[in-house]
Amino acid sequence: MGSHPDIIDIGKGQPSLSLLPLAAWRTATDHCLAQGDAELLQYGADEGDAGFRHSLAQFLSRRYAMPVTAAELVVSAGVSQALDLVCTRFTRPGDTIFVEEPTYFLALEIFRDHGLQVVGIPIDGDGIRIDALQDALVHHRPAFLYTIPSFQNPTGTTMSVARREQLMAVSHTHDLLVVADEVYHLLDFGTAPPPPLAAYGQSARVLSLGSFSKICAPGVRLGWVQGAPDVLRTITKSGVVQSGGGLNPFVSGVMRSLIDLGLADAVLDGLRRVYAERSAVLCRALRERLPAVTFVEPAGGYFVWAQLPAARTAAECLPVAMAGGVAVHLGTRFSSGGGFAQHMRLSFAHYDAPALEEGVRRLAHALAESTAV
Ligand SMILES: Cc1ncc(COP(=O)(O)O)c(C=O)c1O
Repeated sequence: MGSHPDIIDIGKGQPSLSLLPLAAWRTATDHCLAQGDAELLQYGADEGDAGFRHSLAQFLSRRYAMPVTAAELVVSAGVSQALDLVCTRFTRPGDTIFVEEPTYFLALEIFRDHGLQVVGIPIDGDGIRIDALQDALVHHRPAFLYTIPSFQNPTGTTMSVARREQLMAVSHTHDLLVVADEVYHLLDFGTAPPPPLAAYGQSARVLSLGSFSKICAPGVRLGWVQGAPDVLRTITKSGVVQSGGGLNPFVSGVMRSLIDLGLADAVLDGLRRVYAERSAVLCRALRERLPAVTFVEPAGGYFVWAQLPAARTAAECLPVAMAGGVAVHLGTRFSSGGGFAQHMRLSFAHYDAPALEEGVRRLAHALAESTAV
């Protein structure tokens, strides 16, 4: 089967180039450099640039609608880098960790890099299943639990308040470190999810990892870790942070200007509007053209987790789909145990409405064809 010259990869979880805020970034860079502060080009503090952490705390207090202080924040180079750092500082090769089943496939790669044994805990429509977590804790003593509480990748699921509270109770009882990846938290389409897990974490056993990748631009490689100051100290004592003098002081300075000028809010609200529209287009197209495929319409984030009718696997349909000019991410990539063969992850972040409609048209055609073969 030949490959199609102009493939629409509706699996791809990246923003369209047209959504990246080049003009705002230029304004913020000019504003930042005009202050003539050479400190931005110097090694910085272990926990990150103080001015940026102050502006970030104000931004998060406003956007999370809860108080966040600079003392709870350490600067990272994005969630991926923060996850790597958490593994370095809180695990040893051979340790067990828990993840949601399914979960973000590239986090699984980071955990593999650190030689960790991964145990999947199933989720349902309210997030991680506490009964399954408690069962797993009978057999394992994990170094941490990795969860994506809001608009999860790949399912779009948001953990309910009750589950968040139950999870925190289990964390307290079992002294279980919870690493929450909050990368999609601020991308709601109108109704905010419950507060990030750090808000529930008086127990000092929660780290909430945030990032500007999804709410501004992935290329800036800037994020934060939110947690209790003594847990954060374990992170800032890392060799990489100490030797490098914190992470990304220059980009932090530009982001501080972006926040202080009100541009970060404008960029984020623009993205939320576009993604809400595109999500509606993708879901409508799926309902119209692929009525046998089931999914829950997301309330935020990037993804639709779609399930094929019984007896069809996404892997057997993919070659026909690709020959017909459309690609998806196979559900099995998101499983720590080879599950979800009938699922595919679709994203509305990368393509505009006409391309999403065309992608679904091609997918419907390919699925009809692959039944026939
Ligand atoms: C759940 C999740 N975590 C982390 C990342 C990567 O985040 P960052 O760009 O901040 O490293 C992604 C990107 O797709 C993601 O989906």
